[in-house]
Amino acid sequence: MLSRRTFLAMAAAGLIGPQKRPVEMVVRSTRPEDLEMPLSGFDDYITPVEHFFVRTHVPVPKVDLAQWRLTVDGDVSTPLTLSMDDLRKMPSGEVVSVLECAGNGRQNYNPPVPGVQWANGAVGNGRWRGVRLADLLRRAGLKSGGMEILFDGADTPPGTMPDFQRTIPLKKALHSATLLAYEMNGEALPAKHGFPLRAVVPGWAGDSWMKWVTSVRVMNEEFKGYWMKSAYLHPGNAVAPGTLVAPEAMRPVTSLRVKNVISFPADGAGVEIGKRILVRGAAWSGDKGPVTAVDVSVDHGRTWGSASLTGKPSQFGWRLWEFPWTPSIEGHHALFARARDASGDVQPLAQEWNPSGYLWNVVARVEVDAGTNPNLASSIDRGSPVAPPSNFRATCLACHDDGLILQQRLTRAQWDRELNKMMQWGARVTPEDRGTLLDYLEKFRP
Ligand code: HEC
Repeated sequence: MLSRRTFLAMAAAGLIGPQKRPVEMVVRSTRPEDLEMPLSGFDDYITPVEHFFVRTHVPVPKVDLAQWRLTVDGDVSTPLTLSMDDLRKMPSGEVVSVLECAGNGRQNYNPPVPGVQWANGAVGNGRWRGVRLADLLRRAGLKSGGMEILFDGADTPPGTMPDFQRTIPLKKALHSATLLAYEMNGEALPAKHGFPLRAVVPGWAGDSWMKWVTSVRVMNEEFKGYWMKSAYLHPGNAVAPGTLVAPEAMRPVTSLRVKNVISFPADGAGVEIGKRILVRGAAWSGDKGPVTAVDVSVDHGRTWGSASLTGKPSQFGWRLWEFPWTPSIEGHHALFARARDASGDVQPLAQEWNPSGYLWNVVARVEVDAGTNPNLASSIDRGSPVAPPSNFRATCLACHDDGLILQQRLTRAQWDRELNKMMQWGARVTPEDRGTLLDYLEKFRP
């Protein structure tokens, strides 16, 4: 949901009239489309396509399946060019796996960092079917020098933004669960999710799950493209909050970490004394999974009990969990839920900070008020809208809408760096405009 203030600001700027919105999804950006799954989505073991989060960097490419081909080349003995029919004739594999955006939970980081301000729902659990990448590489005659696999898709970047190309190491590519999928939940892959073919890299964050794949290249040296060397990087451990870390000092985001989300009750909800409820949620992990236990505390972490795990156990899918609770004391309660995975990893109590706001996985927490009247949720007035300067639309809204801009919580210095980044990608900001834009941008706090 857009905050009231953001909504009013967008309405003031004439950017939203009555327009069609996908049912129930939280719209983080309409162009390109970034849609978040609402909390109710954590009740499903398999996330339906209509509830599956959408993350797009650029417009969705239109693919004509009759013309479409997949090439497999690089360090192989027989480069291949395959049609969808060719792929469908190969043996297929199926995997249930969580797909989570590396930036899921970014909205919780302080100090704030730029990027889509996801809450909890940039994640879903899908059933994916396609060819095993290992089978394809063997068919092409993988040579012994291969180090990584480079994916490219049919999408084209706006302005001078670098083409979205990413690699995964050979070892992950050869894992039997790693697929090039043409089906999601038993249907042909929808356009937003990569039609006709996407990489499925179970256990790893979404940035490795390349959509609209047209090319698979075996590299015998490290690929040094923008999206590997300057984006999707993590320092590997905590750095002082707010630090600028040089890209060379970071490494690519790979595996997800053990995590869970409390989907009920909602944060800030009212609950009724004496009435039993089922506290519930979903839990998952990455390469170190699956999740083996979820513990819940209803008393600020003083005591913990085991939740029951439901849904089906699988290597890479999520587990749903539930925990019965009858509130008996009037007042404020903090509920915690902490997942553990097969390697013994548990969620941390405090989140380490990183410059892009990736891999948020702190112990889940919601606060509720128990009383005799459960309608206690408070509403916060977020202040009045700020009108955009006249140069805003021409300068900033050519490649994306302003949802992407207005959801940020950045300082003037961070906005200054964003302007530099956008200019590298083709935005034209004149020195005279810069001050007015910065004055406007730094006022936003959704
Ligand atoms: C030439 C095209 C272009 C123009 C013009 C442009 N942007 Fe962007 N911007 C992009 C692209 C591409 C992205 C990445 C979209 C994604 O990954 O979802 C982006 C993303 C962003 C983000 C999200 C954070 C991030 O860094 O990914 C912010 C904030 C942003 N732009 C602000 C602005 C502002 C402010 C202006 C006006 C000065 C502007 N943009 C003009 C192309 C552009």
